[in-house]
Amino acid sequence: MPYPGLDLTGRKALVTGAARGIGAALAIGLAQAGADVAVSDLPTPEARAGVAATAAAIRQAGQSSWQYDMDVQSISAINTTTEQAAHDMGRLDILVNNAGIRRRAAALDVTEADWDAVLDTNLKGAFFCAQAAARQMIPNGFGRIISVSSQLALVGAPHRAAYCASKGGLANLTRVLALEWAEHGITVNAIGPGPTTTPGLLEADTRDADSVQTDLALRMPLGRRMDANELAGAAIYLASDSASATTGHLLVVDGGWTAN
Ligand SMILES: NC(=O)c1ccc[n+]([C@@H]2O[C@H](COP(=O)([O-])OP(=O)(O)OC[C@H]3O[C@@H](n4cnc5c(N)ncnc54)[C@H](O)[C@@H]3O)[C@@H](O)[C@H]2O)c1
Repeated sequence: MPYPGLDLTGRKALVTGAARGIGAALAIGLAQAGADVAVSDLPTPEARAGVAATAAAIRQAGQSSWQYDMDVQSISAINTTTEQAAHDMGRLDILVNNAGIRRRAAALDVTEADWDAVLDTNLKGAFFCAQAAARQMIPNGFGRIISVSSQLALVGAPHRAAYCASKGGLANLTRVLALEWAEHGITVNAIGPGPTTTPGLLEADTRDADSVQTDLALRMPLGRRMDANELAGAAIYLASDSASATTGHLLVVDGGWTAN
């Protein structure tokens, strides 16, 4: 019999950036643990198709799902959609702040537009999603906010100035929100994935397979990129009753990258 402390039956979750990659894997993982899950992503045909596929997998797992357009660069879209999702589901227990982008460039070449896009999505967007979610959770005296940060919150990487700044900021923002909202029964945590095979990572990393493998052999004790499904258990734990005393924490799941 599964450990009951990890059972999410009856919980209602909202996941951002859930059309593909880690967001899709976490949304489906929460559903497999018993949660009903609202899934959201950009208002584009491609993202809507991905969101529909994620929602179908959630229903396949026997749970309810709802689909929304939500660009996390738009605070009005965040507020409207979070309210709508909480209304449609009956309440909101879990937010997974996953939407994120990467723009690789040498620090000397980073443009203001690239800097703003990365920070606005990965940090500002995550903050306002957390704020909108907390407004729904506070009246219930319960909430779980889980942000997808990165192992690059803890260590640097060349050509990732804006990204590393956004993920380091998100890890420390997590601690602030944990302090402020603990009295409302809301825990706020982050997951720090290492390199994980997703469409976004493959689009950004144009190196050949040999150079990737050489780099992984050097930096990643696991010796390979992770699969997005290897992050689902961390999200289920942080969303569960088992994590009632875990807050303000960055749970690094990085194949040993930061142990190096
Ligand atoms: N893949 C990795 O190696 C890795 C490692 C550490 C952290 N992460 C983080 O995990 C998260 C997911 O990354 P991924 O690798 O699955 O990427 P991905 O590009 O495959 O998926 C990201 C999803 O976010 C959506 N998105 C982008 N901008 C958005 C916006 N403004 N509003 C709403 N949705 C938006 C995209 O449409 C896409 O569906 C990101 O926050 C990323 O920084 C990824």
